[in-house]
Amino acid sequence: MSALRAVLAGGLAVVAAAVAVVVSADEDPAGTPLSARSPERVAAAAVFNRAYPDEVAPTGVTREFELTAARSTAALAPGLDIEVWAYNGVVPGPELRAEVGDTIAVTLTNELPQATSIHWHGVRVPNSMDGVPGVNQDPVEPGASFRYEFAVRDAGTFWFHSHNRGAEQVERGLYGSLVVIDPTEPTFDHDLVWMVDDWLLARDGTLVEDFNAMHEVTHNGRWGNVVTVNGAVAPAVAVAPGDRIRLRIVNASNARVIAPEFEGVEPTGFAVDGMLARRAFDGDAFVLAPGNRIDVAFTMPDAAVSVSDNFNGEGFGLATLQPELDPTANGERVATASVNAAVPEAEAFAGLGIDHTYSLDFISDGMAPGWGFNGRTFAESEILSVESGSVAVVRLVNDSQALHPIHFHGQFFIVAAIDGEPVDEGHLRDTVLVMPGQTIDLALYASDEGTWAVHCHIQEHAEAGMMTLLQVA
Ligand code: C2O
Ligand code: CU
Repeated sequence: MSALRAVLAGGLAVVAAAVAVVVSADEDPAGTPLSARSPERVAAAAVFNRAYPDEVAPTGVTREFELTAARSTAALAPGLDIEVWAYNGVVPGPELRAEVGDTIAVTLTNELPQATSIHWHGVRVPNSMDGVPGVNQDPVEPGASFRYEFAVRDAGTFWFHSHNRGAEQVERGLYGSLVVIDPTEPTFDHDLVWMVDDWLLARDGTLVEDFNAMHEVTHNGRWGNVVTVNGAVAPAVAVAPGDRIRLRIVNASNARVIAPEFEGVEPTGFAVDGMLARRAFDGDAFVLAPGNRIDVAFTMPDAAVSVSDNFNGEGFGLATLQPELDPTANGERVATASVNAAVPEAEAFAGLGIDHTYSLDFISDGMAPGWGFNGRTFAESEILSVESGSVAVVRLVNDSQALHPIHFHGQFFIVAAIDGEPVDEGHLRDTVLVMPGQTIDLALYASDEGTWAVHCHIQEHAEAGMMTLLQVA
């Protein structure tokens, strides 16, 4: 963790030295086709595909939800009411739950003063339901509605958030969780979702409305000065000793990276970005960049459990679990975590070579500094195309001095190497943090067809151009 701390404590003040990459004239800006489905790539895809099915049997159940995006207020702490933008008046928005195989139908009604949209982060949806204005849907204008409808194929911890002017709309509170249950998994006494967010408040306790401030754009985005879990500062949750707890942590911040440290229990990690891991892992101090999720399991001890963020040594308290309730008759219960033995080992992709490299670049273009992939902002981005049913190996090179959590819409991937050294994380991801100076190779299984967004999940970086397109055909 010391490298992380050093980065955050020290060097962040300077992005200045970064220079836009020069793109050679013979590169085709319209499309960069990857190697077609070679036998090796199809074989690799088959290995990947065993981890989760392309399709699941429908349950026949449709769950209808209404989400109205409008102005509201939130009490972050006693005496600290702030104006927010929220789904159904609450931050986070209502927790949506469904079982794997269900169809979810969500009618979004926009009562905001700006156009909006909803993206279902990490959920494998048909491309037209992915919620990215300008890529797969028109923005939902003030006064208008849009109906999202899709079947949920993966059980796990997902979330949804505005995908229009995210630096403002996500910061103002437009996010919520989507939990998909697999009824065959072991049950828990408490299935908790903790959505972590931070807020930048002025001295008078109001939200700072200077979104996309120059300093945020050119550094690591907007880091707030108040951290909340489920919209409250350091909430205490009452449970009973011996209770089996499943805790789903979502990082909904615009830019803050968190590493939740547990005191009073050693949590077992068993899912990342919604998907079960191949093996259980240490759930303490796992690093979650914006967009990331982790699921941990533990049996509640007799004394309180406190969780704090220690990514950069600030030690923000997140929340506590208090053993306040009466123990149930059966105190012998043990929390059991599920795993998915079919999650591929990174080794399976070692021989494939790199199909495509993205450099993560600061672009200093006169008056308007920005960020981009391979020296291009989103407006002029290349489209990377991958055949459906193939695996592509993508290298992310971060020669900038900022953090870049890169999120691929519509597909999962495995981190195969960091700085050229093979690694085996043991789990899938939809978002990976690339630290300054780092190079990460990932093997991505291209499954659902369509044009998908790929972007930095620091909202201020994405809005400053750090988004590109992946076409699966
Ligand atoms: Cu959670 Cu395109 O983002
Ligand atoms: Cu970034």
